[in-house]
Amino acid sequence: MKNDAWLERWEVGRTGWHEPGGNRNLQRHWEWSGKRVLVPLCGKTPDLLWLEQAGNDVVGVELSGIAVREFFAENGIEYELLSGGLPHYRAIDRRISIYCGDYFEFEAEPFDAHYDRGGLVALSPELRTRYARHTSSLLEQEARQFVITVEYDQAVCDGPPYSIGANEMLGHWPRLRRHASVDDTANAPPKFLEAGLELMHEVVWRTD
Ligand SMILES: C[S@@+](CC[C@H](N)C(=O)[O-])C[C@H]1O[C@@H](n2cnc3c(N)ncnc32)[C@H](O)[C@@H]1O
Repeated sequence: MKNDAWLERWEVGRTGWHEPGGNRNLQRHWEWSGKRVLVPLCGKTPDLLWLEQAGNDVVGVELSGIAVREFFAENGIEYELLSGGLPHYRAIDRRISIYCGDYFEFEAEPFDAHYDRGGLVALSPELRTRYARHTSSLLEQEARQFVITVEYDQAVCDGPPYSIGANEMLGHWPRLRRHASVDDTANAPPKFLEAGLELMHEVVWRTD
């Protein structure tokens, strides 16, 4: 999907990927605090709040201003808007920032942790390689990484979200390990179920 298509999704409210209660695998398997966490393609996920409450500084990057403003409004968080580089929405009295714009233009001091749910899997194969390289350029060498993917038979239906296998994941980030996998068929997009998909897994890839 091109940037305009994502922006349109936010304009018309077609955001079926959004998890109002946050991601259960994040809540079950994230073990780090005191980190500065990069969250690319963050949408308005409550995972930003969860990561902050787990003791981290959280920095999201999101294309859509609607998503960013809804995140702050729906969670009752005041922010200030700073300019210079991508527009920077910085929470007042909270350790959460969101930069609004194209992730591939985002620059910052290196982060020591990376969280992705719904980001990598949203991108076409060519863009995923670019995403992985750009993300690596924003991370310290020993940064913690926590990336959630989905796995299903892409012969039955096509992404997004795209199915991403182990070879590709380890090609992007060789330090990752397949940490957990749960049957997530019940939460598959309706278009997948209508196409006859019978099994989809949500997979957690993590560094140690
Ligand atoms: C499938 S959604 C996932 C959002 C969030 N991670 C979540 O779990 O709810 C993908 C998000 O990436 C954003 N996005 C797509 N391309 C982007 C880009 N190049 N730069 C920044 N954000 C982008 C979209 O606007 C959308 O909010």
